[in-house]
Amino acid sequence: MSCGSSGSQQKKAIDSSGTKVVTDFIIPDTTLIPNDKYGELVRYGRELMLNTARYIGPDGSAGKYLGNKMNCTNCHQDAGTKAFSFNLMTSHDNYPQYRGREGKVLTLAERVNNCVTRPHNGKPLPLDSKEMVAFLSYFRWISSFVPKDKPFKGAKNLHVTFPAIAANPEKGQHLYQENCARCHGVQGEGQWNEDKSTYIYPPLWGNSAYQPGSSMHRVIKQAEWLKNNMPYDKVKPGVAFLTDQEAMDIAAFVNNDEIHPRPNPKSFDYPHIEEKAIDYDHGPFKDSFSVAQHKYGPYQPIIDFYKNNGLKAVY
Ligand code: HEC
Ligand code: HEC
Repeated sequence: MSCGSSGSQQKKAIDSSGTKVVTDFIIPDTTLIPNDKYGELVRYGRELMLNTARYIGPDGSAGKYLGNKMNCTNCHQDAGTKAFSFNLMTSHDNYPQYRGREGKVLTLAERVNNCVTRPHNGKPLPLDSKEMVAFLSYFRWISSFVPKDKPFKGAKNLHVTFPAIAANPEKGQHLYQENCARCHGVQGEGQWNEDKSTYIYPPLWGNSAYQPGSSMHRVIKQAEWLKNNMPYDKVKPGVAFLTDQEAMDIAAFVNNDEIHPRPNPKSFDYPHIEEKAIDYDHGPFKDSFSVAQHKYGPYQPIIDFYKNNGLKAVY
């Protein structure tokens, strides 16, 4: 289920008359990975995306880096190539990039290590390790399928329209039991594979899940992803199953730290508070909205505050 699909469905960004056309879903054809030294690393990078825990997990064969047994593809589905699933096909082109969370320009390798340390609760890969070079080689290779002159469908997750009221964790609990528990468990514990080397269904909270401070822990970010990726067996690319309100309520329940423990590394994010994502649930804030409103909404008043003060609302 976490295996990336191959197949040649790439559409040209410019048709024969030179006119720009809407780009359809792009699925890199893995049979096109070159048979040379670079191709070897591209293949290894893809393998690392799909079977991360096997190689660099707590019992990893290539080194013990991750603190949990999740795989990159659990969130960046189909090894980072699935549309609307935190797609990574433009990442190679988009770094180095300024990041508000760190308040500095990061390379793509440093950004990979962000996900290794959070949500994977691990320690950073050495920048010159074979594994890091493989990740970067793979990202370069998948980026070669992306049209350079226009955004493609699914490069970003679907958006949610913000409800006028706050997201409601109690409603989310009912929706969770109805739509999610059959795979992720009543206690969000997920389900191990046979030898417990990784998960069939990854955990959503608890000490083996992602940490606070991971983007998945933000209600808006998670809701946008849920909308087109969960329930796993009920969505199709671009076709949501949950309504926006349901996705927000479920994300509020999953990310409710009062009832759901998580590993909690001490970290100091967003050195410039005006660059904080509006749904980041840790003060201090540039505004006087409460922690609860930042976490659960309603978000529009916060967005308006930023706009009225000539600042950019990040979410
Ligand atoms: C629990 C979910 C989760 C897991 C597991 C995960 N990531 Fe991420 N990753 C995210 C989220 C969320 C973002 C932020 C995406 C956004 O803001 O649009 C992100 C961002 C990234 C980015 C930056 C993308 C860009 O173009 O800016 C890279 C690169 C990345 N992840 C690589 C990895 C790698 C490699 C692994 C495995 C070692 C991994 N991630 C595991 C959730 C996850
Ligand atoms: C039919 C089984 C199934 C159902 C139902 C389901 N999921 Fe998932 N979920 C998965 C699988 C499988 C993955 C990993 C995807 C992959 O590796 O390609 C996943 C991954 C996730 C992740 C990212 C990884 C992590 O553990 O943090 C989140 C968050 C998530 N699901 C939330 C939900 C929520 C919320 C619901 C209910 C709305 C739901 N899922 C319903 C099977 C399911």
